[in-house]
Amino acid sequence: TPTPSRPFHTMLLLIFLLSVSWSNLPTNGEVVDSFEETCPQFFLRETPPVIRHPPRSARICQRYQNLYRFATLYDKDNRVPVYSAYIYNPGTAKRPKKWMIEPQLINSSYQPEMETEGEFLNQKGPKEALKDSQAILQDYKNLTDYNRGHLNPNGHQPDYAAKSSTFTLTNIVPQFIKLNGGAWNNYEQTTMIQMTRGCQETFAVVGAVPGDTYISGGRVNRPSHLWSAACCVIDNNHLRSWAILARNDQNVVEKFTLGQLENRLARLYNVNHVSLFHGDCPRQ
Ligand SMILES: *[C@@H]1O[C@H](CO)[C@@H](O)[C@H](O)[C@H]1NC(C)=O
Ligand SMILES: *[C@@H]1O[C@H](CO)[C@@H](O)[C@H](O)[C@H]1NC(C)=O
Repeated sequence: TPTPSRPFHTMLLLIFLLSVSWSNLPTNGEVVDSFEETCPQFFLRETPPVIRHPPRSARICQRYQNLYRFATLYDKDNRVPVYSAYIYNPGTAKRPKKWMIEPQLINSSYQPEMETEGEFLNQKGPKEALKDSQAILQDYKNLTDYNRGHLNPNGHQPDYAAKSSTFTLTNIVPQFIKLNGGAWNNYEQTTMIQMTRGCQETFAVVGAVPGDTYISGGRVNRPSHLWSAACCVIDNNHLRSWAILARNDQNVVEKFTLGQLENRLARLYNVNHVSLFHGDCPRQ
């Protein structure tokens, strides 16, 4: 009888190792395994971006006052979001003030809703574990040329509760202060209103490319670039897209087609292919 060959043994070992690592994948609440299963509504045609995931990342279906508000892919080592995805729906409620964190980045047994650091610590949540799992307010103190930049901006959300949900540090990166209050803000507040004329629904994905420097003693990455892309549904058969890219050390945003931005991002992330929206969205 033939004896099993060496390649056969190698294959069995490989299958064994793969099944062990798959069975160890976490399954928990609002830090989720799959955006498609838990909060697909924030992506055009329920299709999340294809983009490089950091070695340790978490998918967050951002939940506040018992509703899903938007979705964030979070980079656990750099303690910044990779992107936030949301539906553009601007409203005029006042700007919220309190900042929140994501308890389930610490342990999936914690509540599925964002809460303030104070609320978490008052329930005897461990401070060191909080600090280890994500950025906290202290990380953004003492900055001079940078401040807290929203990926999903509160101005693009309809009401006070939805605006409040954007004030989680998992939706925030250190952003060049002149860009945040200048050209980026102008895009968010003015360009978006012009571009979305005639749109029934507009899906947005906003992200940050990790940089070589950090704030807060190496704890939080300072992105080299920020980008923003939108896909607008005009009617069943017509979609339109646009995009911008900005270096995070100057007050300039560059306009691109969606296809151009995806090509730029593929180079910046050093991957073959980046796709921010479902293939139905036109690339130019
Ligand atoms: C998460 O919390 C549960 C219940 O309190 C505990 O048993 C578990 O060890 C914790 N997991 C981690 C990774 O800390
Ligand atoms: C911020 O600066 C103050 C005064 O220089 C210092 O006492 C404090 O430790 C600094 N905080 C951080 C988080 O670096």
